[in-house]
Amino acid sequence: MIIEGGNALEGRIRVSGAKNAALPCLAAALLTEEPVTLSNLPAVADIRTMVKVLQALGTGAELTPSAEGFELTAALRCDQPSEHKAPYELVKTMRASVLVLGPLLARFGQATVSLPGGCAIGARPVNLHLEALGRMGARLDIQHGYILGSVPLNEKGQPRLKAIDHTFDMVSVGATENLLMAAALAEGTTIIRNAAQEPEIGDLARLLVKMGARIEGIDTATLTVEGVDRLHGAEHAVIPDRIEAGTYLCAVAAAGGDVVLERVAPDHVRSLLELLERAGCAITERIGQDGPQIRIIRERGQKLRSKDAKTVPFPGFPTDLQAQFMAVMTTAHGISVISEHIFENRFQHAMELERLGANLRIDGPTAIVAGPAPLTGCTVMATDLRASAALVIAGLVAEGKTTVDRIYHLDRGYAGLEKKLQAVGARIERVGGGRV
Ligand code: UD1
Repeated sequence: MIIEGGNALEGRIRVSGAKNAALPCLAAALLTEEPVTLSNLPAVADIRTMVKVLQALGTGAELTPSAEGFELTAALRCDQPSEHKAPYELVKTMRASVLVLGPLLARFGQATVSLPGGCAIGARPVNLHLEALGRMGARLDIQHGYILGSVPLNEKGQPRLKAIDHTFDMVSVGATENLLMAAALAEGTTIIRNAAQEPEIGDLARLLVKMGARIEGIDTATLTVEGVDRLHGAEHAVIPDRIEAGTYLCAVAAAGGDVVLERVAPDHVRSLLELLERAGCAITERIGQDGPQIRIIRERGQKLRSKDAKTVPFPGFPTDLQAQFMAVMTTAHGISVISEHIFENRFQHAMELERLGANLRIDGPTAIVAGPAPLTGCTVMATDLRASAALVIAGLVAEGKTTVDRIYHLDRGYAGLEKKLQAVGARIERVGGGRV
């Protein structure tokens, strides 16, 4: 991706559906033999990977793109018997594939799912997933790099998971989702305590309720799930992507301009909106034809003030916006202290930002950013999805030409990033690398 920095951003950007809501919703299609139709899925590589995982598990899947091509609708039907195996070749490219484990055990009593392995932003184990499913009665072994799971037969001769009262030791989005899906078809009433409260979990829970699940406490830290014998088909549109929205908010804060984000959920980006407002951006919300909108203005020449940020579970500041916020803070006046409390190795963008001229130091889980630094373009390397977005934001500000390499990371999670930015006046061009 080649970016000529210096243009302010003006216009409108429509936010796509949330990748991290779409992924567990896709996995939930395994819970029923009836058709499940999911719309507003972002047209990104991770969604296609999850669909391939579902196909490998015997699910019929048809993807239809929207008119501009930024969203997809998936028509899914998991009614073909299969070996219930999620292969390493797919799982290694996307850790969220492990979300099929709970649904497979709950519906078929059998699962073979590759262990995801390492990840650029930290160790990211799946012990919390395994512990909870093990407590529900699943037998789980690790062999040849795979999780081999089976569920013992109940008195009726059926493999059924058993309800549990479970308190997570730490807050985990993926483990909450896996347990929630498993509990929907388990015997008895499961209580999930210290559940993650990210909006994507609420979205999954709402899909499950449409499928016939009985869930109380949605959007809270305690979910009560009364298991049912079977779930049925449903249609569901996933929520807007708060991280995509936050990325564009950061882009405007850094580059300056006046942009309206359409089809956004303001409450899902509240922590970022507050920080950007305190930093000096003007932010207003209104209801448009297509749902809520956020307008962000940062006048040309207006100084931004440095603000501190600490990543924590929702509703706090999200780790998935830490890199983008750091890019903004390189342009702000003062010292910003950014601490990362979710993943241990999530500052790889910092060294690349330094190549662009940022003035920062890393000390363990803390980054100290002194601004404003005069950024100047050069070639930088994307290391993970959100790090790539931070480099694009810095490139929009930097004087001259910035080349962001390895943009396949961006394609995992942003639908039409360069097209959406071009439409608001950014000089950004894709010169290599496959599109999704
Ligand atoms: C999800 C998001 C990811 C986001 C993250 C935190 C998806 C597809 N991905 O990832 O974009 O950055 O939430 O908001 O929704 N942990 C364990 N053991 C486990 C599971 C997690 O120790 O079994 C640790 C992790 O290493 C991490 C922390 O818990 O330090 C939070 O991870 P978790 O919430 O599980 O993240 P994901 O679901 O993988």
